[in-house]
Amino acid sequence: MSFTVAIDGPAAAGKGTISRAVAAEFGFAHLDTGLLYRAVGAKGGDPVAAARGLTAEDLSRGDLRSLAAGQAASRVAVIPEVRAALTDFQRRFARAEGGAVLDGRDIGTVICPEAEVKLYVTASAEVRAHRRWLEVGGDAAQVLAEVRERDARDMGRAEAPLRPAADAVVIDTSTMGVAEAVQAAISLIRQRLPRN
Ligand code: DC
Repeated sequence: MSFTVAIDGPAAAGKGTISRAVAAEFGFAHLDTGLLYRAVGAKGGDPVAAARGLTAEDLSRGDLRSLAAGQAASRVAVIPEVRAALTDFQRRFARAEGGAVLDGRDIGTVICPEAEVKLYVTASAEVRAHRRWLEVGGDAAQVLAEVRERDARDMGRAEAPLRPAADAVVIDTSTMGVAEAVQAAISLIRQRLPRN
């Protein structure tokens, strides 16, 4: 059986937490697609060549979760040839036997428009910046400015901009606890899973 769950949304909205919980609950494979763009940005040099030659080793670098790596990822992600180089891998992953959950910015709109379940996980910029700040520390105003800058670039780019798919279910985690958001995602998926 192949069954794809597409989870999109802006930085620090809770996509990663929900994706991991969903993968654990249903035994699905999970791909954090942001990591692909982070690895391309961190590699340096020509981003198109980096995307075409991405290796497992590139994805296991220890510095991919930093704010700087997020900004670098967002910058290389506007390049159409970078996105094209990463598309096939993501689509193959999405159709893996046993089900898959992919989280990113364009999964429900571009990578897997046929996904069985599409979620758009969001929260206010202030709430997301506060969560990021709890993780990384530093200057809170600067973290908020970076969240806003990344949102503007990810939503404003010409190629595969971040937006909810027309048939996505929106989960706003501004006021919802993580456990509640995870439960909402799990019950929606359970309703849509084929009954043998
Ligand atoms: O989800 P993340 O914060 O790790 O993503 C880092 C950046 O990568 C994000 O700001 C934009 C880009 N990205 C993208 O363009 N498309 C995706 N499917 C995932 C991430």
